[in-house]
Amino acid sequence: MKKKLFSGIQPSGDVHLGNYLGAIKKWVNLVNDYDCIFCIVDYHAITVDYDASTMQQRILNATASNLAAGLDPEKCVIFAQSHVREHTELAWILNTVISMGHLDRMTQYKEKSEQHKSNVNVGLFTYPVLQAADILLYKGEVVPVGEDQVQHIELAREIARKFNNKFGEIFPEPMEQLSESARIMGLDGKNKMSKSMNNYISLVEPPESIWKKLSTAVTDENRKRRNDPGDPAICNIYTLHKGFSSDSQIEEVRAGCKSAGIGCVDCKKILNENITTELAPIREKNNELIAKPDYIYDVLQTGAKKCSEIAAQTMEEVREAIGVKPSR
Ligand code: TYM
Repeated sequence: MKKKLFSGIQPSGDVHLGNYLGAIKKWVNLVNDYDCIFCIVDYHAITVDYDASTMQQRILNATASNLAAGLDPEKCVIFAQSHVREHTELAWILNTVISMGHLDRMTQYKEKSEQHKSNVNVGLFTYPVLQAADILLYKGEVVPVGEDQVQHIELAREIARKFNNKFGEIFPEPMEQLSESARIMGLDGKNKMSKSMNNYISLVEPPESIWKKLSTAVTDENRKRRNDPGDPAICNIYTLHKGFSSDSQIEEVRAGCKSAGIGCVDCKKILNENITTELAPIREKNNELIAKPDYIYDVLQTGAKKCSEIAAQTMEEVREAIGVKPSR
């Protein structure tokens, strides 16, 4: 029996290179080794202000980006969170086993409440409990994510443990799995690459725009002149090379940066070439898919049907364990 793997992505605008290197590129390679479920987490995305009239398109876009990046719906399950109602049901129950103190420690909650001061809603606070429900509903054991989600997966483990102690062994304790590019910095060189910071290259960015963004991206700020040696360890262009370039190119730019043998512009040109080459077929496939929304809805519907069966079974066990009547 293959281990169960679960992961998710919010439909909150463009999928960017941080999502791609930190999560999706890795997901594509894991579908043969694990029993994989990938979720477009629309109920998570409504915890910040948003325009409801754009949500359907955002769900379609996020699904298309994942399919275009290589997720094969014949080999894994892809679905939208809101299509399987048990996510919110389990989240409610899990709310009762974890303390407010645990949630109050979540870094992402602190950051988001700073960013969205006018809308610090209760959903933003209990967001990690819904995330735990996503994983536990399918008894997920392995959760491939970027570094920013590790604290949430640790909390999901804690929630599973507390539930099992109180009501009996139902859930495995899920473990995060990090890619080598678990933290991609933004083009500003200061913050993590993210949708909200507008410091990203999108997965479907046109080539002209990729170069425009790369050419102005911040590098090692101590390297003021071409002949100054740089430090690849603190340069986000070098981190991106590790995601897109061959081993020999990575070594070439690493050594070149340290010895001032290569300038930042040339280093960026090599990266630009590699990103453009890797993204071209993804952008093309994405455009094809966006023109076929019915196909995308079919993928999501098939996924939701499979997930609903698993979710219903888990909830039977959970309802029985907590002493409420099974809904038969
Ligand atoms: P989200 O939508 O912010 O991001 C999706 C995935 O991309 C990773 N990621 C990054 N990795 C490296 N560098 C970056 N700059 C970067 N930015 C984003 C994220 O770590 C994530 O793996 N709460 C989650 C979604 C979620 C989920 C789940 C994940 C909901 N339920 C259950 C796993 C399991 C989120 O907001 O991801």
